[in-house]
Amino acid sequence: MIIREETEEDIIAVRAIHEAAFGSPAEAELVDTLRSQVRPIISMVAVEGALVVGHIFFSPVTLNSLQNLKLMGLAPMAVMPGHQRGGVGSALVVRGLEECANRGVGAVTVLGHPAYYPRFGFLPSVRFGIRSEYPVPEEVFMIKELIPNYLHDHRGTINYHEAFGDV
Ligand SMILES: CC(C)(COP(=O)(O)OP(=O)(O)OC[C@H]1O[C@@H](n2cnc3c(N)ncnc32)[C@H](O)[C@@H]1OP(=O)(O)O)[C@@H](O)C(=O)NCCC(=O)NCCS
Repeated sequence: MIIREETEEDIIAVRAIHEAAFGSPAEAELVDTLRSQVRPIISMVAVEGALVVGHIFFSPVTLNSLQNLKLMGLAPMAVMPGHQRGGVGSALVVRGLEECANRGVGAVTVLGHPAYYPRFGFLPSVRFGIRSEYPVPEEVFMIKELIPNYLHDHRGTINYHEAFGDV
């Protein structure tokens, strides 16, 4: 399996992965919207043989609606059913976080399963005094600092692009 940046030729396969993994078109549409409207983005695929089997997407989020911090949200991510539980998702997270670090991102947020993301170094956001704008249980909203202490002295609410409101 290799992990690489998405190209135009991957877009249809990426859409199919999200539709199959989530069982609805909402996440696929979210990716299409963000890909066309938002910069910077990080969009990476996992390829096995000639087949695109997984996708991970990062887009900017803000703390207290300020633009002075370089923060990205990990979402959405999906692996084709049939290829799940074989390490594809983990490889995407690890490579995706590396790419974020290479681009100078200070911290990454994720809204996801609290049994999955801590293995990559994500901590509950409340440990940083930071919350999600969404009314979710606090343990499902997590943050990983890529630059040590990047969020020191920063507290408040993380906001995602308005397109996330449709999912
Ligand atoms: C979540 C997902 C991307 C993980 O990809 P994957 O290739 O199966 O992940 P890996 O093989 O690297 O890791 C498997 C681990 O993830 C855990 N896992 C997978 N899906 C999970 C879920 N929905 N909730 C909790 N844990 C989950 C498995 O228990 C396994 O843990 P283990 O190693 O302790 O057994 C994939 O299952 C998927 O596409 N799910 C549907 C879409 C989704 O929920 N996306 C995430 C939210 S944005």
